[in-house]
Amino acid sequence: MQRGGNMPVARRKVRVLCATMMLNVVIFFLVGVSWNLGRDKSDRPKVRIPSKRFWRQQVPSKYFWNKEQQRLDLIYNPIFNSLPSDSLIKLPDWLNIIRPVNPCEPDYRVPTQISDYNTLPHRFQDFFLHMRCRTYPMLINQPHVCDQKPFLLLAIKSLIPHFDQRQAIRETWGRANRIVVTVFLLGNALPVDHFPDLLGMLGHEAKLHKDVLLWDYRDTFFNLTLKDVLFLEWFSQNCPHAQYVLKGDDDVFVNTFRIIELLGGLSDIKAKDLFIGDVISDAGPQRDRKLKYFVPQSVFTGQYPAYAGGGGYLYSGELALRLRNVSRQVALYPIDDVYTGMCLKKLGLVPENHSGFKTFDIEEKYRNNPCVYRKLMLVHSRTPQDVLKIWPWITHLELDCQ
Ligand SMILES: *[C@@H]1O[C@H](CO)[C@@H](O)[C@H](O)[C@H]1NC(C)=O
Ligand SMILES: *[C@@H]1O[C@H](CO)[C@@H](O)[C@H](O)[C@H]1NC(C)=O
Ligand SMILES: *[C@@H]1O[C@H](CO)[C@@H](O)[C@H](O)[C@H]1NC(C)=O
Repeated sequence: MQRGGNMPVARRKVRVLCATMMLNVVIFFLVGVSWNLGRDKSDRPKVRIPSKRFWRQQVPSKYFWNKEQQRLDLIYNPIFNSLPSDSLIKLPDWLNIIRPVNPCEPDYRVPTQISDYNTLPHRFQDFFLHMRCRTYPMLINQPHVCDQKPFLLLAIKSLIPHFDQRQAIRETWGRANRIVVTVFLLGNALPVDHFPDLLGMLGHEAKLHKDVLLWDYRDTFFNLTLKDVLFLEWFSQNCPHAQYVLKGDDDVFVNTFRIIELLGGLSDIKAKDLFIGDVISDAGPQRDRKLKYFVPQSVFTGQYPAYAGGGGYLYSGELALRLRNVSRQVALYPIDDVYTGMCLKKLGLVPENHSGFKTFDIEEKYRNNPCVYRKLMLVHSRTPQDVLKIWPWITHLELDCQ
């Protein structure tokens, strides 16, 4: 039974072999013919050059920020950049439409570019009018603050009237020493904002403590991104050798010891790309007009990259220099921590989540537990009085926490 059953299999094998050989002959013939057809009379192979462009023409986005980002992506595109200036390949026309002469003059072509400009909250109108300007004069600088090449630079976002917040930080977690240097990042106010003039007092404070940096732009929530960009520029000029930067708000409590301990234990590889904080992922713009983080559809569409909450995050000085470079390629976005996430993404990095960064505070029942503060890195928010109360809890080591 078994032997007899093998006979047809053998015959089928022979037939398959014959068919395969025939097929090979046919393919050989076809290839030969097409090879000959591909040669012109002078016997050279013909190179086919496409007569039209074979990549997709980019259409401008309907959403204002996204379109501005498309523009920057093309301007910084390495292929476009390497073309000679008389090249036939030009940037698409729509990119040139709204290029102002001076990026620091308000751009009055913006209102025609945003479909619902006139009904947007005023802060958005204002932000987009000035969005291209990234340089403002410094009124107070501390060019020598980093002469000793600090291990850790604490860069604290503050506002001119917050004298007490700054003083609480100086007396506690931001106290300058051999390895830690603190600077406060401040903007100015415009007469239309009706602030009393505190510049005289600020001048005294700056002389006394030598830790105040002041730029001449209007210090508002939406301009915090500008504060970040100006800080990175300042850092690259005045403090490029600081090993690490902690950037945070003036109403946080920082356990400086824990931060230094963490940094001291990093491997070289990890240290170079370090960026850690309280990471938020899978977020996107809020569409409810009543919320602080509201962003209208007409100006931004898409998801946010992973970003670390702006209350406080920690990164390497070397990464700060890369962020400063790449930030030119990212259109300013009115929410500063999201913007930093966008810059990281452009560098191909993601922020690392660390449970010690509590930018949304800790549970109420732990807030007066001294031992809890020994373990965490940073907590938001605390008043100057809280900061002065908490500081001895982490410095007085006779307190037994195990
Ligand atoms: C940001 O600062 C610039 C310069 O002072 C100012 O013209 C603009 O109104 C500010 N933008 C916002 C949204 O406050
Ligand atoms: C930043 O850009 C400058 C000039 O474009 C370049 O020389 C420098 O190496 C860059 N720095 C980093 C850290 O990428
Ligand atoms: C980061 O860690 C905190 C806990 O410390 C957690 O609540 C949060 O969801 C984490 N975020 C991400 C993106 O994993």
